[in-house]
Amino acid sequence: MKAVVLGLALVGLTAGVALADGDPAAGKTVFGKCAACHSVGDGAKNRVGPALNDIFGTPAGTVPNFNFSAAMVQKGKDGLVWTPDTFAQFITKPQAFVPGTKMPFAGLPNATDVANLTAYLLTFSPNYTPDAAAAPAAAPASSSAAQ
Ligand code: HEC
Repeated sequence: MKAVVLGLALVGLTAGVALADGDPAAGKTVFGKCAACHSVGDGAKNRVGPALNDIFGTPAGTVPNFNFSAAMVQKGKDGLVWTPDTFAQFITKPQAFVPGTKMPFAGLPNATDVANLTAYLLTFSPNYTPDAAAAPAAAPASSSAAQ
């Protein structure tokens, strides 16, 4: 029981760091690593990678008019929705989280960079509500422990 509670606390902590402690201004600098391929904000367009406005709360591989890999499309069909948590896992190691992705980016190993980047990108997902979208991803861990 102790291990379950500890596990839950850690899950909560990780989500909290990404949501609460990220610095959007620092994240803008981190986004420099992405800007060769992705754009955000007014007039953002699909480039080498899809435009990332409103990416949070969106199923993987569904940005309109972008030619995603079969691997990314399949992830979306399998239920992958971008939340701060799933995004952090993806951006830390893209090829491990979505094997077969055509995103040619090795990953961001630094958790602070990831938290800051997440905070920055969240400013371009103004309609994203963490509770609603994060619930399905968190459900397996919490429901088994809650009973
Ligand atoms: C060299 C180009 C390149 C770089 C650099 C890059 N990406 Fe990507 N990104 C892509 C491509 C191409 C895809 C589509 C992947 C696929 O279809 O498998 C993608 C997909 C994504 C997706 C999934 C979008 C969706 O709708 O499912 C996210 C989120 C993302 N990138 C974020 C980032 C972030 C944040 C960075 C910087 C840390 C970054 N990318 C760096 C090219 C790039």
